[in-house]
Amino acid sequence: MSAIERETREFESRSSRSKGIFEKARELTPFGVHSNYRYIDPYPLYFSRAKGSKIWDADGNEYIDFNMGFGALVTGHSHPILIREIGNCIDKGVLYGFEAEDSVELGRIVTSRFGYDMVRFSTTGAEATMHAVRLARAHTGRKKLLKFEGCYHGSHDSLLVSVKPTKEKVGDRKSPNQVPASKGIPPEVITNTIIAPFNDLEACEAIIRNHRDELAAIMLEPIPMNMGFVLPEKGFLEGLRRLADEFNCLLFFDEIKTCGKFYRGAADHFGVKPDLCTMGKAIAGGFPLSVIAGSKKVMETIVPGQVSHAGTFNSNPLSVRAAIVTLRDVLTESGFHFAERLGEQLAKGYYDIARDAELEAQLQWIGLSGTIHFSQEPVRDWRSFLETDTATWFLFYLSMMNRGIIPTGTGPDEQWTLSVQHTEEDVNRAIERFKSIAGDLKDVMEKMPLVEAL
Ligand SMILES: Cc1ncc(COP(=O)(O)O)c(C=O)c1O
Repeated sequence: MSAIERETREFESRSSRSKGIFEKARELTPFGVHSNYRYIDPYPLYFSRAKGSKIWDADGNEYIDFNMGFGALVTGHSHPILIREIGNCIDKGVLYGFEAEDSVELGRIVTSRFGYDMVRFSTTGAEATMHAVRLARAHTGRKKLLKFEGCYHGSHDSLLVSVKPTKEKVGDRKSPNQVPASKGIPPEVITNTIIAPFNDLEACEAIIRNHRDELAAIMLEPIPMNMGFVLPEKGFLEGLRRLADEFNCLLFFDEIKTCGKFYRGAADHFGVKPDLCTMGKAIAGGFPLSVIAGSKKVMETIVPGQVSHAGTFNSNPLSVRAAIVTLRDVLTESGFHFAERLGEQLAKGYYDIARDAELEAQLQWIGLSGTIHFSQEPVRDWRSFLETDTATWFLFYLSMMNRGIIPTGTGPDEQWTLSVQHTEEDVNRAIERFKSIAGDLKDVMEKMPLVEAL
């Protein structure tokens, strides 16, 4: 029996209740989940409780959670300060249908911390990027976007292009194909999303020149976190800034994920300022709130009756209060230092074990977040991500889960997130567990396709 078969059996023997729930759920809901990313073979686990750094599945198994809601919980689960504040707030109404007074305070906190002139709040990341794309188009009067191969920016048509294209479909490395990431997207929508290779400034410049006068924005995550953890090479972000200025389009950073990985976000970390930015996930401690932020000139393009931005749940009182408390009292500079120190410990622990076990693995991380790519070479773009070994990743993930550790988000394209509620003991336990399985990861014979689970 191979290690994958053995661990799959172990997984099934630990999760009979989840399996039963899945059988019922899939009669009501396609694949038994309400977000495609949550589905995994042989069936998804269902969870019933979470607190601090821990989460419990429906069978009562306890896990140390390094997924943390796909990076949305740098506060950890149900932080006591948040529970207290939200408890006080809930009594005052959960939705006004008018602007909540608190939203001004949150606007001040976000603009001063992340360095933008103005903000608008939305609810999810996808909504923020969708509105920001329209805003960029309205502001520039142009319709095309430059997006990077392998990057995900939410589940809406303009950006569901070349998210996880297969080797057979990607085309020329320097001028990638525009590959729809889902059925149901009109081809004419796809034609407006131009695809470029990450970390290749020369190719980007050629593509941008080709579409000069048509591009509304160059859009990217400063660290692409939907192909693992890909660091921008020296000069790449600065080069894109220069190109955006030269060709009069907006530089748009999608910091839905990365805003929670650094105290002042990734733009500040790398010292490159975009014209437009979206933030979400960790910003409200697990409550749904996203942000569109930018210069006054760009943001003032939003005008009622002319350029749309709307949403029933936008800046609802609970999410706004949660974001204020999260940014002001929980994700403080010292909170970040604490989580970053644990993140460094975790990554170095994994690194040493991978090296000693002679695994073909790349540890890529900064501070509180990172990932392990099972590949010979570092991952620097989508093409190198395609060389990573999905079967070894699957065995890693399953084996860690079976030993009480959720090592990363679900998928080889995800990463771990440390929170302010993790402890050294949590980190040491994860390192120990990794050590106990490292030998199995050396010669995985199976091959698994990368599934475009969008
Ligand atoms: C970079 C990035 N942008 C946008 C989104 C969409 O956010 P949401 O799932 O809240 O709609 C995600 C979600 O993972 C993301 O990682």
